Amino acid sequence: MTKQASATAPAPLSSPSSAPGKLAQRLQDAFLAVRNETERRAAPLSPEDQQIQSMPDASPAKWHRAHTTWFWEQFLLGEHCQGYQPFHPDFAFLFNSYYVSAGPRHARNHRGDITRPGASEVGAYRRYVDAAVVKFFREAGEDKLRAIAPLVEVGLNHEQQHQELMFTDILHAFAQNPVYPAYDPDWRFPSATRTGDDWLILNEGIHTVGHVDDSFHFDNEKPAHRALVGPVKIARNLVTNGEWLAFMRDGGYANATLWLMDGFAVVSKEDWQAPGHWREVDGAWQVMTLAGLKPVDPDAPVCHVSYYEADAFARWAGKHLPTEMEWEVAARAGQLNDAFGIVWQWTRSSYSPYPGYRAIEGALGEYNGKFMVNQLVLRGSSLATPEGHSRITYRNFFYPHHRWQFTGLRLADYN
Ligand SMILES: [Fe+2]
Repeated sequence: MTKQASATAPAPLSSPSSAPGKLAQRLQDAFLAVRNETERRAAPLSPEDQQIQSMPDASPAKWHRAHTTWFWEQFLLGEHCQGYQPFHPDFAFLFNSYYVSAGPRHARNHRGDITRPGASEVGAYRRYVDAAVVKFFREAGEDKLRAIAPLVEVGLNHEQQHQELMFTDILHAFAQNPVYPAYDPDWRFPSATRTGDDWLILNEGIHTVGHVDDSFHFDNEKPAHRALVGPVKIARNLVTNGEWLAFMRDGGYANATLWLMDGFAVVSKEDWQAPGHWREVDGAWQVMTLAGLKPVDPDAPVCHVSYYEADAFARWAGKHLPTEMEWEVAARAGQLNDAFGIVWQWTRSSYSPYPGYRAIEGALGEYNGKFMVNQLVLRGSSLATPEGHSRITYRNFFYPHHRWQFTGLRLADYN
């Protein structure tokens, strides 16, 4: 977990600067580091914890552990390792997520119904695939390794995305439990930074946005292109719980004029009166965290708000949400406090293709491109994002009603 993006992106694993013979070791080290982090995150969870699917959007921890393993089996071993025998013939059906090109799959909203394989068998599945991948790296030869290194990087970054989901999904599950279990009793919400002026001024200018070099990136971050940005003021700081409480006290959740129509429909249907995971206990607001239920800290950034809520808050404050281009230019200037490492920040940009975007060829073309409608872009990273996973050009995306992720906001102003 980090509050800094990778300021200098690591060289690709396939970088020609790799010393001959060292590539297998680099791939193995990177692979095992990510695989071990998944297991480290799962370690405090009992088999019962790992089983639960508390809503259709959240997946069991056991499923995350197995699905990330299937990804290596399907896209690396199955396609590039001659003679590889899958661990179990049914696992491709059980643990394929949404890759139509990779064959039929179990229904997403029924992942919690799968009691077998159990958590320990999923552990055995992981160890089997880990050993096969390490053996493959050792035996494949330099040319083949150089060719598959970009695929390995996708697999590593894919598994890191699921590491974050393991936290958001188990937190949602624990938040449904009346005794509010702690994932880690010693966990603390990261403290916010408060330095500099409240507003960063971006004058009108044409800027390059998107990923420009060959360091790792997802396909949705390209093509880099030029965009007219500004004049705009971007809030240097994240919106806090204290500011959110003022919105609530002012009747923000009940005032339909502040809300998009779809947003107010969700507020009414779900009876939203506060951010996700908040509970009112004896007249005081508490929030479910990875350490259990804790008092809401007015100085901490607000977390677990949907796009609809972020949009309504901005309207109430007489401000706006920034576009993703404005966010990226401000972040590149290094002037945003807590751009990374606490909460993903909603932008008002629809998740759509950059000019000239084409999904990559093959099944992995389903990774990002087919989701480019009806969702909103979030920028930055969160307290659950693994070390080294974030970038200034990273485009996260969720539906506007989603709020079980670690999501917050910063404001923009055009006056
Ligand atoms: Fe996945």
